[in-house]
Amino acid sequence: MDKYVIRGGNPLFGEVNISGAKNAAVAILPAALLADGVCVIENVPMVSDILTELEIFRELGVRADVTAPNTVEIDAGRLKSFRATSQLNQKLRASYYLLGTFLGRFGRAEVSMPGGCNFGGVRPIDQHIKGFEALGADVSVADGLISADGTGRMHNAQIYFDGVTVGGTINVMLAAVMTPGLTVMENVAREPHIVDLANFLNHMGAEVMGAGTDTIKIRGVSNLHGCSYSIIPDQIEAGTYLAATVATGGRVTIKNVIPKHLEAICGKLSEMGADITEKDDSVCITKTGRILPTSVRAMPYPGFPTDMQPQLAAVMTLADGESVISDEVWDTRFKYASAFTAMGAKIDVLPRSAKITGVRSLNGACVEACDLRAGAAMVIAGLAAQGQTEITNIHYIERGYENIVSKLRSLGADITLVSDKKQRR
Ligand code: EPU
Repeated sequence: MDKYVIRGGNPLFGEVNISGAKNAAVAILPAALLADGVCVIENVPMVSDILTELEIFRELGVRADVTAPNTVEIDAGRLKSFRATSQLNQKLRASYYLLGTFLGRFGRAEVSMPGGCNFGGVRPIDQHIKGFEALGADVSVADGLISADGTGRMHNAQIYFDGVTVGGTINVMLAAVMTPGLTVMENVAREPHIVDLANFLNHMGAEVMGAGTDTIKIRGVSNLHGCSYSIIPDQIEAGTYLAATVATGGRVTIKNVIPKHLEAICGKLSEMGADITEKDDSVCITKTGRILPTSVRAMPYPGFPTDMQPQLAAVMTLADGESVISDEVWDTRFKYASAFTAMGAKIDVLPRSAKITGVRSLNGACVEACDLRAGAAMVIAGLAAQGQTEITNIHYIERGYENIVSKLRSLGADITLVSDKKQRR
């Protein structure tokens, strides 16, 4: 089994380039299947979730080629089926975006249940279904298959989401862009990747208005054309390197970012004693001395992102006092606590929150990544700990972080990918 071996204690120094946003890319690639022509998509992070998604497309007869580093060409001209039941669907959450895509393109969809990280509770799709039904589809879920049939009946709708959902917003956008009439979606997610998807759809000839606010209006069009597009930088990957720099100390410039997307993250890290300066497309972070404790509540954008709370928790384990973290999006997303405890952290998991009492230092340990961001948090803890940390189940981390080992090594970290067969750097 592959693992990361980290000898902690090195402060991070240097510059790191941030890749394209994974959660934007996993939505934009299936959106490209709506086009009549070829889509050329740049700044695609080559992480395992993307490679799996491209493989699912190929199984459907779609041409999905990596034509240059981080560039993907998609031609769905030969796509005839509204059915996607590959075993691969269970490897990632975003496979369910094919529901919206097929409903938009064919008025009908059958897609097997998606996978994705398990935070200790269910990941419902009732709001996706509510949106599809409002657009005229009959939806059923049975034997691991989600079926939506709106053949000849798809129509515009007014949809009010009962809670803010990124996936629900994306899926209903995909279904609505080619559905006749004006669809109004209210109480939608406002994450940067929602705006990026809307921009991509509009490049293909869609009429999507209001993305980034809580109301999106979509005027359905009868066809979409191919286009070229470049995906936004990954706010969570950037935040992970910022958090790692605070945990280890040092000075790092995070390049190719949109600083506006990092405001909540930079705000918290500043409260914890980091010195942060922003430029047009980079952020420089410096940290020396003790880390200050803080409290954070993860919530939908523009709040502090849930996908950064495990990494922030890793920093809190080394703070000078007590920090509290709560998560309004995934209220049981604290499975990382046992790994941190094994490394000497003091952490109490309470209902919907965790109390972290900072310690002077962490010790290295053998830990298992339990999901993508928890795994990234364990990397941060390992980089800051005294001694050697071994992290197994790194396939979780590789779902969302491009070249994490080489990027961290370029900043001075002592981290090595060790595989069963050979040792690679
Ligand atoms: N929810 C419902 N009903 C629904 C959909 C969601 O009740 O129909 C609830 C969920 O249970 C949760 C909340 O709404 O409590 C938010 O869920 P959301 O739909 O926003 O999450 P998601 O679309 O399943 C995406 C990201 C996650 C990220 C969340 C929140 C992708 C592929 N996944 O998931 O990313 O945590 O939004 O921002 O975009 C990650 O990258 O590590 C990751 C898990």
